[in-house]
Amino acid sequence: MYRNTALSARSFGAYACTWIVALLLVWTPARAGPGHHAVATAHPLATDAAEAVLAAGGNAFDAAIAVTAALGVAQPQGSGLGGGGFFLLYHAESEHSVMLDARETAPEAAHRDLFLDDAGEPVPGLSLDGALAAAIPGTPAALVHLAEHYGRLSLGTSLAPAIELAEEGVPADLTYLQMAEFRKRALRAGADAAGIFLDDGELPAERARILQPDLARTLRRLAEHGHSGFYEGEIAQRLVEGVRAEGGIWSLDDLARYRVVERRPVVLEYQDARIVTAAPPSSGGIVIGQILNILAAAGAVDDSGLRTHLLVEAMRRAYRDRALYLGDPDHVPIPVTRLLSADYAADWYASIDPDRATPSASLPLFGEAEHAATTRTARESRQTSHFSVMDADGNRVSGTITLNYPFGSGLVPPDTGVLLNNEMDDFATHQGSPNVYGLIGFDANAVGPHRRPLSSMSPTFVETPDRIAVLGSPGGSRIITIVLQGILATLEGADAEALAARPRFHHQYLPDRVEFETGAFTSSVRASLVRRGHRLAPQLRPFGDLQVVVWDRSEDRLEAASDPRGDGTASVFVQR
Ligand code: GLY
Repeated sequence: MYRNTALSARSFGAYACTWIVALLLVWTPARAGPGHHAVATAHPLATDAAEAVLAAGGNAFDAAIAVTAALGVAQPQGSGLGGGGFFLLYHAESEHSVMLDARETAPEAAHRDLFLDDAGEPVPGLSLDGALAAAIPGTPAALVHLAEHYGRLSLGTSLAPAIELAEEGVPADLTYLQMAEFRKRALRAGADAAGIFLDDGELPAERARILQPDLARTLRRLAEHGHSGFYEGEIAQRLVEGVRAEGGIWSLDDLARYRVVERRPVVLEYQDARIVTAAPPSSGGIVIGQILNILAAAGAVDDSGLRTHLLVEAMRRAYRDRALYLGDPDHVPIPVTRLLSADYAADWYASIDPDRATPSASLPLFGEAEHAATTRTARESRQTSHFSVMDADGNRVSGTITLNYPFGSGLVPPDTGVLLNNEMDDFATHQGSPNVYGLIGFDANAVGPHRRPLSSMSPTFVETPDRIAVLGSPGGSRIITIVLQGILATLEGADAEALAARPRFHHQYLPDRVEFETGAFTSSVRASLVRRGHRLAPQLRPFGDLQVVVWDRSEDRLEAASDPRGDGTASVFVQR
């Protein structure tokens, strides 16, 4: 396996006579897929799992099951059975794209003031640590749905690599240890979580094996019984008892009624590209669409300082609208058509002063005093996970999966091995107050029974006449701008490796500042941003973990790359 790799199918024809090649070109029907498989994931063992399943005759959807389950075992700080995610699918035979929404749902007993004290103030930590923070998981339902509707292999075959990893244990790597240290207090609070992820309440030694036999049993049950193996019966009973014993509000009915939803993705046209991306309850597609529409309204801009200024201003405005309008589409009306219209973008573009940064406070949602009070810096951490896969036939999956914060809520209900998410913090738990990523929200994203919290996860396909890119990243509120910059790099022709490595910057309306990685700006762009009045916030730690597959059809070249910032690997290999 190669970390970042590419394979040219042209090399296979190098020894053939020219006239034979010519005949083949005439008589061979146009191939729908690249003829090889490509995968990029955030962990080497998850990439291995995908390779094993593809080699066994599986397709991209079987590989997605294998990767999702393996990431949950090998990188428990980022995702797992106790969480949720979005899986953007392209089914080559039907030429159909769909977003599988496996976002967690709030339990029936959840209500708007769940995380507030008697004085109406947020209770610190309540939506982040422990039982109340956990929403009903969606990932197990997604695995079953993928196997039943899209895969070629049995669910058990695709889950086998993850089951083996859970039984044999995965060595604790540096990222695991850093995140376990970061979330030690939450992990220590429950006997099961501490027993699995810590060693006598302290960090395990580096490379110590993290064994998860209960999780292996739960995965086997899922393989055997499908949806009901998790959402009903013994496992459901244990999950509910474990959550309620810790003060949570789940019921058996909450689990029994959980369903994934197949949603129409957001489809954007920009330059010569068709961009297929995440629909609500992700904010990703709409925010990306708004930003691209504002750039389109600006037209070609040669001055790189001005172009960066416009991009920052577009980010500011789109994140402002995110806070105000976006939420669960099954519970709140979202003005998607208006937000994505050219007229709306033209109005926003007209509000941008080319020479001055617009203070976010002058694009208010509410009074300026509250505005200052809600400015909070997003905390640095490594959470969530992404994978991209394309099979030889051209089927593709871009999957972003999460427990929300590292190690989610820190709660593992006894005898399940299932580490639960803390996705409830993605709701606007207190109107206008920032969540753990510094994002604010209002009515559209209020806590409510069966609602899905607003997400930033943005699995994406970029399709141009020549190239198809499958991409996505973790990164909390920054996911959207990381993916946006991946899209722009794809359109500039960057190869997979360059695309994953490119330095990034970010603005999210509040806090009102431009966060950027080393190397994101030349000194002249930086000076021009300062001159325009932007507040610059250099980030010492890099952000994001982009996983990319690029198929260049015109050159018959398939590439995959895993972000150099992360621990992942990518692989392109010949179909046997
Ligand atoms: N939990 C982070 C997100 O979904 O955006």
